[in-house]
Amino acid sequence: MLVVEGRAYIDGRIEPRAIGIEDGTIVAIKKQLRGDPAYRYGDALILPGGIDVHVHFREPGMTHKEDFASGTESAAAGGVTTVVDMPNTNPPVSTPDALRQKLRIASRSAHVDFGLYASPTSGRDVESLREATAFKVYLAETTNAPVIPTFELAGGILAAVAGAGTYMSAHCEDPRLFGKGVATSLEEHHRVRSPRAEASAIAELGKHRGSAPLHIAHVTTQEALQAKPEGATCEVTPHHLLLDATAKLGPRGKVNPPLRSPQERTDLFQAVLDGRVEMFASDHAPHTVEEKSVRFEDAPAGMPGVATILPLMIRYVRRQVLPLERFVSMFSGNPAKLLGVNKGAIEVGRDADLVVVDPRKIQPVTAARCRYKCEWTPFDGAEGTFPTATFVRGELVSQEGELVAERVGRMITRKKP
Ligand code: NCD
Ligand code: ZN
Ligand code: ZN
Repeated sequence: MLVVEGRAYIDGRIEPRAIGIEDGTIVAIKKQLRGDPAYRYGDALILPGGIDVHVHFREPGMTHKEDFASGTESAAAGGVTTVVDMPNTNPPVSTPDALRQKLRIASRSAHVDFGLYASPTSGRDVESLREATAFKVYLAETTNAPVIPTFELAGGILAAVAGAGTYMSAHCEDPRLFGKGVATSLEEHHRVRSPRAEASAIAELGKHRGSAPLHIAHVTTQEALQAKPEGATCEVTPHHLLLDATAKLGPRGKVNPPLRSPQERTDLFQAVLDGRVEMFASDHAPHTVEEKSVRFEDAPAGMPGVATILPLMIRYVRRQVLPLERFVSMFSGNPAKLLGVNKGAIEVGRDADLVVVDPRKIQPVTAARCRYKCEWTPFDGAEGTFPTATFVRGELVSQEGELVAERVGRMITRKKP
């Protein structure tokens, strides 16, 4: 039996515990256990591994930005043990062939567990794409995305997804409400693709929802949260919580939906503290330094982030702004519920996905520590606390950001109800 020892987060409490693992599953949790091997982390925290339901790993088609091996290495470096990859790759994951191709790629290269989104073009496509983990629709143009032109069509997809036993994630912005003209700065980008356009798309889609499982991607304002239909889930990104349109990031800060005003940003943070947001997700959307080194209007939207959710947000836990319980449920427990996987808690019978972190340790965020293939991060130089170790189903995958076991990732499956 393999044993991991430290101050473990179990049932909402932190206690010194030994976690016994066999065949990738937690089989015992005791004050002491004899293990071979035994990993002892003293008074560092052991938390359930992170689950990021929104990453763009760019393979196939755009592997100069990212690929499944590099993206999952970064995930592990940041304590993320499961990712769900978006379908706006090339070709887009809108056909069974494209889905199979991505599954082959991910299965042979992923260092952490993964799920795959498919993007049906109508409700009729859903059945043939049922091997996908979940479905995604884009209601407005964004980087390389297949757009669903009407809310009726999106509603039809949502109804079909309900029968497939999974959920539909939606990029919600209403292009009919976009301002005129081409944005040349972060503040203009925020005004053109306004909070109103975002909230309106959420409300419109809500009208077509029925009782189908809807998840709203990257919510940026309280207004958007208010528009969210009862029972739908949503995610926020650390960049919308920690950066705003006054940031001196130029084209690197260009992202959809845009970074908002300082007031909207702090209000969004408050909504997280009030428990109104189910989960963090990174919307890890890397582009190269070169691609971002052009005029604002020509730059692609998106920024990397899969490795910095825990490092940035755990600082707020350490400063007693964000309760540890809320952090863990948003980083791991709630996304596990959305996906219906046997993960997201340190509990006998669950997958042994664990992240070890010492919140007293502070390291600056750098692209190198994040292991980013794109070689930049919008949080460069910010205070972070990176994990000491990341375990995927009992395998030590990453140690101080160094990859120590390769290709252990598997496709996730829904627990039988
Ligand atoms: C994403 C991308 O680059 O794939 N870009 C972004 O600005 N967020 C697409 C998306 O999630 O909208
Ligand atoms: Zn999006
Ligand atoms: Zn995205």
